Amino acid sequence: MREKLVEFRHVSFRYGEEQPWVLNNCSFEIYEDEAMAIIGHNGSGKSTIAKLMNGLLFPQEGQIIINGKELTQESIWEIRKDVGMVFQNPDNQFVGTTVQDDVAFGMENRGIDRHEMVKRIDDTLSAVGMEAYRLTEPHKLSGGQKQRVAIASVLAIFPNVLILDEATAMLDPRGRSEIMNTVTSVQEQRHLSLITITHDLKEVVEAERVIVMNDGQVWDEATPREIFAKKEELREIGLDIPFVATLSDELRKAGVFITNEALSHEELLEELWTSHSTM
Ligand SMILES: Nc1ncnc2c1ncn2[C@@H]1O[C@H](COP(=O)(O)OP(=O)(O)OP(=O)(O)O)[C@@H](O)[C@H]1O
Ligand SMILES: [Mg+2]
Repeated sequence: MREKLVEFRHVSFRYGEEQPWVLNNCSFEIYEDEAMAIIGHNGSGKSTIAKLMNGLLFPQEGQIIINGKELTQESIWEIRKDVGMVFQNPDNQFVGTTVQDDVAFGMENRGIDRHEMVKRIDDTLSAVGMEAYRLTEPHKLSGGQKQRVAIASVLAIFPNVLILDEATAMLDPRGRSEIMNTVTSVQEQRHLSLITITHDLKEVVEAERVIVMNDGQVWDEATPREIFAKKEELREIGLDIPFVATLSDELRKAGVFITNEALSHEELLEELWTSHSTM
């Protein structure tokens, strides 16, 4: 059976006593080996969830369990060894004077030996296409290059839980799909839980399960296909749906017979082909 790596039990959170509740009784579970996406409108609480997962914030109510341990002030350092996180704005994440120092930093904190460190620096920088920048100062990189290095730095610590909070937002489309392929293959090899917080529908469609946040609550939790079948409701809570899903709807309205919900161009073609060749 898959192990439960992240569990939110009735978590509520606000940024101060006078502030409104940002998360309201949120419960969900994420398993090892699982690729999750978290989506939701701006301000729905996604980044707050990410910060709660590695103890940058603590909930006022409820519990967060990571890899079997409750996240508390005491367990936080132990738990952070398991959790890797990359945020949208990579500027706040650099500590080293060169790219390679930066990738080394997280490993030094975890007591990884020198020989292994050198190997992981090589491996992760080439995996994100940044091997030529080993000795560059991080502040001289472009936004997308910084995101690549930030991703290399977390991959190098071999986390059990990897959270990407709009971590590919600055990459161009090709860079984004290359990096997501790299991350996904690492996720599959090491059986980690990958949590992608994103507005990019392509990334959402590729997840195994999706959590939809709305106004600080879990609005739904299902496979991408089940989620994107609720087109009208999604639009009502401020979310977009994949172009292919809209196209299928328009085709249906025009009288084209389509039974299964398609999420990619290939699936839609297949669907059109099979429904029409049997008629
Ligand atoms: N440091 C803070 N102090 C006070 N309120 C905050 C703080 N950070 C976030 N908030 C509020 O908490 C709510 C949830 O914010 P959060 O960043 O979790 O949303 P999000 O779902 O990540 O949105 P986005 O899609 O824009 O990244 C918002 O209403 C926001 O204004
Ligand atoms: Mg956010």
